[in-house]
Amino acid sequence: MRRMVRREREASPGVGPGPEPKAEGPRHVAIIMDGNGRWAVQRGLPRTAGHRAGVEALRGVVKAAPELGIKVLTCYAFSTENWKRPKDEVDTLMSLLLEYCRLEATTLHKNGVRINAIGRIHELPPAQQREIERAVNLTRGNDRLILNLAVNYGGQAELVDAFRSLAAEVQAGRLDPDRIDAAAVASHLYTAGLPDPDLVIRTAGEMRLSNFLLWQAAYAEIWVTDVYWPDFTREHLEQALREFARRERRFGAV
Ligand code: FPP
Repeated sequence: MRRMVRREREASPGVGPGPEPKAEGPRHVAIIMDGNGRWAVQRGLPRTAGHRAGVEALRGVVKAAPELGIKVLTCYAFSTENWKRPKDEVDTLMSLLLEYCRLEATTLHKNGVRINAIGRIHELPPAQQREIERAVNLTRGNDRLILNLAVNYGGQAELVDAFRSLAAEVQAGRLDPDRIDAAAVASHLYTAGLPDPDLVIRTAGEMRLSNFLLWQAAYAEIWVTDVYWPDFTREHLEQALREFARRERRFGAV
């Protein structure tokens, strides 16, 4: 479909050389919200203040996303590696998660946002599991935006879980190993049923995926900004979408 749109433009008169916007924006945007700690240190504040400010930035982006045509927004809130951080920082992140689900769910529900969580949710403290479940249940009928919170998430852990579950099906005699293909693997990921991300945004300048959506981001465009996450606004998101529109996605073809 995208290729067709491009060819029509190429054939149309008056279109000059150089990149031009695609008709479609990204359906699924995934964000590595990095730089909270540096944002805080720069201001002489504890790192945890950066995470609090990060929640504010998240609020703004969740509001803007559906207005900009985004249907799925995945945000990396806590990785499987983040448990290694100092206890007070882990505790703050867990409290913020609890507060976010508790206080934000009603507003999100009113705004037609469906909350979903990906990751090893069953390993979170019981209170966090309960609040996530409550927010997911409250909002499950909404379809303006899916807010996919990656919590205790790791791409490798997700693949391990998927392979274990596939192996269990094989062992039970319900699945022929020869019939395991990419679609079968995808259907065992936490993101089963969701489209793959078209665009991955990373804030705070680092050029790596950090174990985020390793399978799903296979063909995603990646946009990195030096802006620290707490400073990220709707204008930065719009900038990323403009850059996405200039990219030519070939999905392995020529
Ligand atoms: C990376 O910044 C960010 C995180 C590890 C957590 C992201 C969390 C939030 C934005 C707020 C929490 C949101 C919810 C819904 C719980 P960093 O601390 O690694 O920054 P640094 O690289 O500058 O140290």
